[in-house]
Amino acid sequence: MTEKTPRLRPALDDVPTYKPGRPAAKDGPVAYKLSANENPYPPLPGVLEGAVAAVGQLNRYPDMACAGLMAELADRFDVPISHLATGTGSVGVAQQLVQATAGPGDEVIFPWRSFEAYPIVVQVAGATPVPVALTEDDRHDLDAMAAAITERTRLIFVCNPNNPTGTVVHTAELEAFLDRVPSDVLVVLDEAYIEFIRDADVPNGIDLYRTRPNVCVLRTFSKAYGLAGLRVGFAIAHEPVAAALRKTAVPFGVTQVAQEAAVLSLRSEKELWERVDALVAERARVVEGLLAQGWPLSDTQANFVWLRLGEHTEAFAAACERAGVIVRPFAPDGVRITIGETDANTIFLRVAGEFRKEMSL
Ligand SMILES: Cc1ncc(COP(=O)(O)O)c(C=O)c1O
Repeated sequence: MTEKTPRLRPALDDVPTYKPGRPAAKDGPVAYKLSANENPYPPLPGVLEGAVAAVGQLNRYPDMACAGLMAELADRFDVPISHLATGTGSVGVAQQLVQATAGPGDEVIFPWRSFEAYPIVVQVAGATPVPVALTEDDRHDLDAMAAAITERTRLIFVCNPNNPTGTVVHTAELEAFLDRVPSDVLVVLDEAYIEFIRDADVPNGIDLYRTRPNVCVLRTFSKAYGLAGLRVGFAIAHEPVAAALRKTAVPFGVTQVAQEAAVLSLRSEKELWERVDALVAERARVVEGLLAQGWPLSDTQANFVWLRLGEHTEAFAAACERAGVIVRPFAPDGVRITIGETDANTIFLRVAGEFRKEMSL
């Protein structure tokens, strides 16, 4: 008798694998990781102490309701607690969102290229991904996204700023787009990098959520707040969406360490925003340097820059690695480089200049 293997859902066959940004080598010449849009600063001292204190309770389950964090978030963003839901990073909340809205036969629209988890969470739910190509200048094509809406559309992701291009959707165009979306289709404004935006014409999704019951805002503690390793993100959405997100959450998914650190981070925003300002200043230095070297760039409002390297994508990533910085290639489109430590940014700029000359770009 031939042994049969366990039957798995055929929907998983085509699910792309999430490729994490590669880490910097522990020993050897490679020193800097600019491949995962992380915050280069270590945790703030007060936050670290709070997290370490929570480690002493590791024999206990965390507070499943995240009550302390929910109260702090409700106060900080002036929203009812019933409109909040947390998850294991905002990618966890994105998964909860898809599970709450879409299954086999349903469609989820998202820009492409964008955050690589979107097609994964959609396909894992058995729903149909509907990627809509960015415009030539790397921005959301909101007209094409509106045209892609069908009877089967259940969810639409808007990534503002977009990962990996850093480009933004402006207030008037986003409002016009939202006006075209049927009220029974949920629009998720993924604002993972909102704290790095300096363009005054980009909306705060929370303002849009207040008057639109089909808008949900997705935020994270992983980027500006510097807690990527703890996995905590949250959504702000009207009932019944927020309630559905709490149902689709992994029970006890957000650890007590993460909850304590997130609360303390919300109380330390002054210090954190100084760091964000420093990263934004570094971004300006990097962008200026790249423009002086002649690179064509789209305006980035996130903690990374995007080089449309096309067929040179892998070669460029390899050149960076030889010089000591790991970047994130997305072949065949381009390379995303996180704004990191000043020395790392300087090395990257040097490699970019040399590469452009060598390749006669
Ligand atoms: C646009 C966007 N959304 C969400 C996430 C998820 O981040 P996390 O799960 O760490 O909150 C990322 C991470 O890179 C991202 O780029």
